[in-house]
Amino acid sequence: SALVESGPVHQVTLFTGVPVWLVTGHAETRQLLTHPNVVKSLTEVPHREHTPEDLVKATNTHMLAANPPDHTRLRKLVSAVFTRRRIDELEPRIKQLSAALLDEVAAQGGGPVDLLSAYGYPLPITVICELVGVPSIQRDEFRDLSQTVMTGPTQTVEVYLAAVTKLVELIRHMIEVKRATPGDDLLSGLIAVRDDGDKLTDDELTSMIYLLLIAGHETTVNLIVNGVYTLLKHPEQLAALRKDPSLVTSAVEELLRYDGPVMVSIPAVTNGPVEIGDVTIPPGAVVMSALASANRDPRRFAAPDTMDITRSDNSHVTFGHGIHHCLGAPLARLEARIAFSDLLGRFPRLRLADPDAEPARYPGLLLNGMARLDVLLE
Ligand code: HEM
Repeated sequence: SALVESGPVHQVTLFTGVPVWLVTGHAETRQLLTHPNVVKSLTEVPHREHTPEDLVKATNTHMLAANPPDHTRLRKLVSAVFTRRRIDELEPRIKQLSAALLDEVAAQGGGPVDLLSAYGYPLPITVICELVGVPSIQRDEFRDLSQTVMTGPTQTVEVYLAAVTKLVELIRHMIEVKRATPGDDLLSGLIAVRDDGDKLTDDELTSMIYLLLIAGHETTVNLIVNGVYTLLKHPEQLAALRKDPSLVTSAVEELLRYDGPVMVSIPAVTNGPVEIGDVTIPPGAVVMSALASANRDPRRFAAPDTMDITRSDNSHVTFGHGIHHCLGAPLARLEARIAFSDLLGRFPRLRLADPDAEPARYPGLLLNGMARLDVLLE
């Protein structure tokens, strides 16, 4: 909230040297993300100047980097196969996966457990891989590659490019396999739509899968792990949730707001003047919203720095706003509800292994997550 108090629009220089207009207020974030002169562009692709053009296209011809009418077409296509019903139907499977992971951890006996590697990571990665159609044998590989790609700007060019190249190779191979033997997964669904005469290009299909796999787990992992950490740091809130488990829905919203997994929106550019409050951002500028600051805007949230799992008026912007509002939000919410309910339900004395240690956070500006979180599951 300190950033918000010093004004809702700031000019900053990122560590990559790129000057950016950073919008920190809540109302201003909504204005920015729905402004007709704010458009997504490929200029901010990490290591762009070192990336071969065919690789840029194979990984960035997706809806998050697209503007209408392409955005509308791509989002509509995936929405036809990634439906609300399909997400609701995943619930029993997610519960089963969650229980199996916790059985495994419990079987290891006492002692500190890294919640991230034992549970926070495997749950969303398995869910998104099953949903998209990644064979189980390749899931660890996908996980490592997508982690490298997500932290792209902080990786060396060589490491980043090797990961992107390998990920694209794996996706292209998967597309061939699914075309020959379709399954009940999103990729098969998209291939069927495409083979029915839709205009989805090779790059669009590869990029769509690339986006779903990356956007679909790294963020949810952080929601689960940051969320558990925040709850454990607020014992009175944790006790309230234990007492009334039906509060889990509003608790998930508050954990998304208070310590959300994504700090900023993906950079966009202005193709005309953009007035935000009393500031006019010129055409050709790179703009971003500091979602995490908007979520602590005292003009929007009462006691913004207080974590309150019963907060009801909670219109956080953790999933973005406008046409690019997160497609996977219902899935992320479902996974988080199951994760918090299962962890608290099963381990009545769940606690931090070292209550005084401040866990190390992930590098980079985009994500807000921890490298590990040691807990005692009892
Ligand atoms: C878009 C956050 C989980 C798929 C976005 C955006 C944000 C976001 C902030 C908009 C970015 C922008 O406008 O620059 C999150 C958070 C998640 C999460 C915090 C977890 C807690 C997921 C999951 C999936 C997913 C589970 C997929 C299964 C997408 C897609 C878009 C998107 C496809 C692009 C939508 C478009 O451009 O129309 N997400 N996300 N996300 N997210 Fe998520």
